[in-house]
Amino acid sequence: MKNRLSAYLLCGFFMVMLFGTANAQTKKKQTTEAKIDAIIKELTLEEKIDMLHANGIFSSAGVERLGIPELMTDDGPLGVREDVKPGWGSANLTTDSATFFPNGSALAATWNPELAYRYGHDMGEEARARKKYIMLAPAFNIARTPLCGRTYEYYSEDPFLNARLAVQSVKGIQSQHIAACVKHFAANNQEVERDRISVDVDERALREIYLPAFKAAITEGNAWTIMSAYNKLRGVYCSENDYLLNKILKGEWKFKGVVISDWGGTHSTVNAANHGLDLEMGSPLPYNTYYFADKLLDSVKAGKVTVKVIDDKVRRILWVMYHTSLSDNPPAGKMNTPEHSKTVYDIASESIVLLKNARHLLPLNTSSIKSIAVIGDNATRTFHLGGFGAGVKAKYEVTALVGLRKRLANEIKMYYAQGYSGVYRPLRRDAGKTTKADSAMLQQAIFTAKSSDMAILFIGGNRDYESESRDRKDLSLPFGEQALVDAVTAANPKTIVVVVGGAPYDIGKIKKNNQTIVWSWYNGSENGNALADVLTGKVNPSGKLPFTFPADLKDSPAHALDAYPGENLKVDYKEGILVGYRWFDTKKIEPLYCFGYGLSYTDYQYSGLKTSKKSYQPSDNIAITVKVKNTGKYAGKETVQLYVSKEKSVVDRAEKELKAFKKVMIAPGETIDVRLSIPVKDLAYYDVKTSKWVVEPGTYKLLAGTSSRDIKETATIIVN
Ligand code: BGC
Repeated sequence: MKNRLSAYLLCGFFMVMLFGTANAQTKKKQTTEAKIDAIIKELTLEEKIDMLHANGIFSSAGVERLGIPELMTDDGPLGVREDVKPGWGSANLTTDSATFFPNGSALAATWNPELAYRYGHDMGEEARARKKYIMLAPAFNIARTPLCGRTYEYYSEDPFLNARLAVQSVKGIQSQHIAACVKHFAANNQEVERDRISVDVDERALREIYLPAFKAAITEGNAWTIMSAYNKLRGVYCSENDYLLNKILKGEWKFKGVVISDWGGTHSTVNAANHGLDLEMGSPLPYNTYYFADKLLDSVKAGKVTVKVIDDKVRRILWVMYHTSLSDNPPAGKMNTPEHSKTVYDIASESIVLLKNARHLLPLNTSSIKSIAVIGDNATRTFHLGGFGAGVKAKYEVTALVGLRKRLANEIKMYYAQGYSGVYRPLRRDAGKTTKADSAMLQQAIFTAKSSDMAILFIGGNRDYESESRDRKDLSLPFGEQALVDAVTAANPKTIVVVVGGAPYDIGKIKKNNQTIVWSWYNGSENGNALADVLTGKVNPSGKLPFTFPADLKDSPAHALDAYPGENLKVDYKEGILVGYRWFDTKKIEPLYCFGYGLSYTDYQYSGLKTSKKSYQPSDNIAITVKVKNTGKYAGKETVQLYVSKEKSVVDRAEKELKAFKKVMIAPGETIDVRLSIPVKDLAYYDVKTSKWVVEPGTYKLLAGTSSRDIKETATIIVN
């Protein structure tokens, strides 16, 4: 009786909580809308127009007399950028050093959405402390070509992995009442001619490959702002693309927030205003010459843009402000906390990919090693600055050499040789020329390698070599690094090659010569600590490649079809939906390393893939379990990847597509039931004839694997 009574009381309490909260929320919505209406009534047309264009590199005007603050934005995505002065030079403040977070492809290599949330959350906290209410992040254009200069900022070649990470990054940032600005909308997949090129992509590929992460970030992540891309889509600049901005984003996806132009990416007044752009950003002075400044005022006066259109933009900006700078009970901002460092460390240590463990050199057997030659410019180089927009003035950054010394200097002697010079001064659009091998540095490296028990060689790219506004010319290792690898491995066969980069490189010769290869990234403030812990075995590597490494650039779809970088300022995405592994698998081309690949210090055994039932309706969820056993000596994290394939289909299909994944920690000897779920509606293709997503009835194969090419268990289901 007593129990029953307390159950009723508890239930009543929850009802009050629920309806009370719902009422409060509706009320809050009403008052916010009423406030916005009242403000719009008060504003003069001139004041409204002032709110719609930049008045500083990262700001647009407020209206002081009505208590409307300036709108403050900042880059992203590797952390909150330092303050700059007109001309983009550093403002030389002493208060804007920030946490440097691992780059986008590093985050993607963790295959861990929880880490994406923590990344967003912590960066949001720092943005709040710096009073930057819109973070120009995350960035997640699809890796269509491995050459794209911003591959390192972006996540993946796969729309599903992309979307899962994008949603959590957005939620994390916005949990701090800071708006995420997801970028670059859309099809900004190369930097060559990025501000003039027109992308021709078929509708199915647009919907299935290039838009899903944006759609998920808006409809699930609820992102409050979005950045239009520099390029044109089907002949029309993205910043004035009615189809993208009005029809899809604001129409189909019901986006309530602000469309912000990329910096200097606006090209008209009337078209941009009427076709969905809300805010014009850029840096050249004077601001009154902007398309959304005096010219917009004239266009309204001439009746070419209505006041209703202007009011809608102002409403959107105020709506974002009420979620951010003017929000109720905002959380306290924090900079450079130990928690932020821990997030960086966790991302970095889960992102590192073990590509090859030849002769089982890893984890380092520290008791049998007396000396290590640490060779290579990337062992001492920092990665927080560079690459244009995505630079962060890091409060600190632990380099690889410092990380290794901290862990090992007491037991092991460490000798450093630079090996090569990583200085890179690009000529605009001429990203192929790097310094050659330097014979004095080479000799010193050989000597150091010979006189040590083993060598750890750091090569790869850097933040000058991989950059916004240009693509790489090819995949070859820069700075004469191949010659260095050849010389050092000949001098000491016990060499571990650590490649640092944010995009695929040609490491085919190193693989063929059976070297131990570790892939690392621009891994944030904790780079060296995480790397040292992976090499010494404190952390078992669990990173998996978020994109395919081609054996030859010509194998990559855009290059195989001669569909990059385009001709006469047009690029035709001839490969359609066959991007990344979808192409390699369907065309049966062996890559150097496949999508989803990554080794561990332990082994995992898969068994017993089961689905909840055999046949499903389109509205069902497919519940899947698979047993994974850790058969080795080390505890480890495994990412179970679930691909789906449909052999007979009314449309062309990729051989398989990622539809679910889960990362789990498994103790040595332990077996875990890994549960995954796929909504049947996610099996749909985009039907261009009806402009609808269609779930095709029939048999589907589910493939569970440790990478896209190492499938361990399969099952079939039927969709009715
Ligand atoms: C980049 C954006 C960046 C903006 C502001 C542009 O060049 O494309 O990603 O947010 O500059 O720095």
